[in-house]
Amino acid sequence: MALSTLTQLSNLISQSVATLERISTETGIALPDLDYPTIAVESELLRTNTAAIEAARAIAAAGRQLAALTMPPKDYVFEVVFGAHLAASLRVCMEANATEILREAGPHGLHADKIAGKSHIDGGKLGAYMNCGPQSTIRQSKARIMRHLASHHIYREVAPDTFANNRLSATLDTKKPVAELFSDPDNKHTGTSDAFPAAAAWTLDLWAKAACNLWETLKDPEAGFSNETIDSTWHRTLGIDVPFHRWFEQPSQRKLRTLFGIAIKGYAEMNPPSTVLDAFPWASLPEGAVIVDVGGGIGSAALLLGQKYPHLRVIVQDLPEVAANAQKNWQIQFPEVHQSGQVTFEGHDFFTPQPVRNASVFFLRYIVHNWSDPYARKILTHLRDAANPDTTLVVVDHILPYACPQEALPPDIAALSEALDTAAPPLLPNFGAANALGHSLDSLASIS
Ligand SMILES: C[S@@+](CC[C@H](N)C(=O)[O-])C[C@H]1O[C@@H](n2cnc3c(N)ncnc32)[C@H](O)[C@@H]1O
Repeated sequence: MALSTLTQLSNLISQSVATLERISTETGIALPDLDYPTIAVESELLRTNTAAIEAARAIAAAGRQLAALTMPPKDYVFEVVFGAHLAASLRVCMEANATEILREAGPHGLHADKIAGKSHIDGGKLGAYMNCGPQSTIRQSKARIMRHLASHHIYREVAPDTFANNRLSATLDTKKPVAELFSDPDNKHTGTSDAFPAAAAWTLDLWAKAACNLWETLKDPEAGFSNETIDSTWHRTLGIDVPFHRWFEQPSQRKLRTLFGIAIKGYAEMNPPSTVLDAFPWASLPEGAVIVDVGGGIGSAALLLGQKYPHLRVIVQDLPEVAANAQKNWQIQFPEVHQSGQVTFEGHDFFTPQPVRNASVFFLRYIVHNWSDPYARKILTHLRDAANPDTTLVVVDHILPYACPQEALPPDIAALSEALDTAAPPLLPNFGAANALGHSLDSLASIS
């Protein structure tokens, strides 16, 4: 008798959990613990084991599919409907430095009123009162914003209205002293060892605001069918009619620019270094070969290449303001690589002719996906014009697998997708929500 989807998913979870437990017993590495109050090398050791990574992914994919299968359909869909509210709650906690405050408070946590007090925001808002009326016997509930997140496993409510960090909320920790965050808020993310909080803060700011206007942009009779950058959702949201980078370069946007520079490092760090180091046989290039990292941001790919392959020269190009900022940071953070001249920064608009004519490699990471086809073509055409016969173009970007069954794919796409890691039914072949980061980034790109 064919097993029900419910049983198949449940069996997959049981088998995968057994795999995780076996690996944990064999290696002595602890199983993940949601209540672990920080992200540390020891809390993530299972991720160094390929079989454990695969088992964890199967559990996450099957678990989410089980929720979709078993929750009341309207409740499940309303979780998505309320997605913007959840993101807004997270932004409040980030901007209020709640994670850092809770780190300093320790394992017993802190009452929401005290968190709000330290953040200099209205305690009645972070920990808003439910107005039950004077005669109500229902206990007045505070901390709705934090409880919203704790109900999604970000933060832990240890006692009524009292919260502590857990393994998920700890990802937002800049590790800076709370006093410093409040005395120098503009540089909250500068000089941190982990750029993930900056990536979260940036995405929750401009991207989230623009995302809410996506429909209005799409249904606009002109902007909706335009490939021009000034017709993007960002432009509608910000009320600007100049190219985004012109707006972004203005002195008034300095704080946002600094945040963006660090955020792109955060996005990049969410992928393993192998996505750069294995993208090309770098070791085979001759001494002094020139790599141009086009739109290279603050040089996070250049750092990986420069450290592993000292024989290569890397030129990081980006918009003048971004390049100048990156150069300043490198002078402080990596003075040896910078002084040696192995990695240099150059202001260059990739929609203008490429000045470097002796490149061995033009390297583009997370660039092409950001632009509509006519603009992507312009970027690539300038690189082709500057290439010599031995120049290689290396593009690192997300591959976005279809969610439909493999059998539904036309043969040419099916052949391509064989190279990808595909899940067996009843899971979605692309692992569904457990593997949707690329699709999230892609939908972000659709608004710009
Ligand atoms: C998604 S980020 C990727 C950064 C970097 N390649 C990485 O992987 O870390 C896109 C980059 O393109 C840069 N950019 C945007 N418009 C540009 C332009 N017209 N010329 C050069 N760089 C540009 C941005 O400043 C940003 O650093």
